[in-house]
Amino acid sequence: MQRLLARGLVLMGTMILAWAGAFTSARMNADLRALLSQGPRVAGTPAGRAAGDYLAAELKKVGYTVEFQPFSYSRTRDQGSNLKVGDKEIQVNALSGSPAGRLEAPLVVVMGMGRAEDYTGLNARGAIVVVRRGGIPFLEKAHQAATAGALGMVVVNNAPGNVRGTFGGGGPIPGVTVSQEEGQALLGQSGTRAVLDVRTVSEEVQARNVIARRGIGNPQAILGAHYDSVVGAPGANDNASGTVTVLELARDLAQSPISQRVWFVWFDGEEDGLWGSRKFVAANPDVVRGLRAMLNLDMVGIDVLGKLGLGGDAQLFGLAQQSADLEQVSLQDLGANEGGSDHVPFAQAGVPVLFFTWGLDANYHQPGDKIADIALMMQAGRVARGVLERVVQ
Ligand code: BES
Ligand code: ZN
Repeated sequence: MQRLLARGLVLMGTMILAWAGAFTSARMNADLRALLSQGPRVAGTPAGRAAGDYLAAELKKVGYTVEFQPFSYSRTRDQGSNLKVGDKEIQVNALSGSPAGRLEAPLVVVMGMGRAEDYTGLNARGAIVVVRRGGIPFLEKAHQAATAGALGMVVVNNAPGNVRGTFGGGGPIPGVTVSQEEGQALLGQSGTRAVLDVRTVSEEVQARNVIARRGIGNPQAILGAHYDSVVGAPGANDNASGTVTVLELARDLAQSPISQRVWFVWFDGEEDGLWGSRKFVAANPDVVRGLRAMLNLDMVGIDVLGKLGLGGDAQLFGLAQQSADLEQVSLQDLGANEGGSDHVPFAQAGVPVLFFTWGLDANYHQPGDKIADIALMMQAGRVARGVLERVVQ
């Protein structure tokens, strides 16, 4: 009896080892290197194409049927915008989707985050408004400014350095961001005349989602991550981390019946305004209607929160908690707050979603985004796998 028990324990131990070892760090490291070697995976560029090809080739090796979903959209490119205040020329980044234009007007500083109520008692007609980043999306800030009669908008970064932002579509008035350092001075210059020169040109982007599946018929769940990155950032944490974790999960599950019921999707054009996920949802209404869950992994390679952050559906969070307890991973509930990533179009279509992230690191959208920790990615991946095991039948 005792011997049997001992043997049982050994067997269980071996199974746990085999199971835990299903994610291999060597493979994930190779994937990370392959993705980062191309430079920023900006949608529609050769590096973006190469990344999509790499994912497809890896997935085919383990027996998946891989399909590209091509789509196009227009994007603006900044050809060097600037803001002149007196003799001082300040370098600014045009918001993606901003109309081009050169305008001379007084600066008007907006208190708060640029919500509708921040304009009561403020005359912004004919002005270039200066507003802080945060609280509401850039597009929302621009709409409020335009409604108040402003001609242009300067958004001051709420973190050191500058930021590349997007309207996620076309903006109503020319809009730019400035670094926190440069912006600080502007916040005290209401009434000063300035010249804002926004030099954007628009270009047509040819992008592709990568979709991997094994079974026939519609999936019960989608596991996704965006694989594109912004101009000038290698995108290791944002989001080679999620890309590689989903790829490794697809490999890991290739032998499991679960993979018959799950589609793995790598979204393109996320950074330009969730284009890939919006196009996917629009093109696959039947698939979307039948989904029990959409899990989205975005920025899972650097621990900022001290815990694995999960946002979205409360029931899915409960399942993730069970999985995390087994994996000894601590979770932080990010609530239903939507966040800006590819789960949003699914949530808006009524799909229960769960968004996985270790948080927004200091190198977000910067040239320094070069590192992702495989151990953290594996933890996120294991929790996600546990959710799939509990959701899919
Ligand atoms: N990876 C980010 C989203 C994110 C933020 C994940 C914080 C985890 C923590 C994503 O690529 C991104 O940059 N999203 C934009 C919005 C999007 C519509 C362009 C953002 O959050 O500003
Ligand atoms: Zn991003």
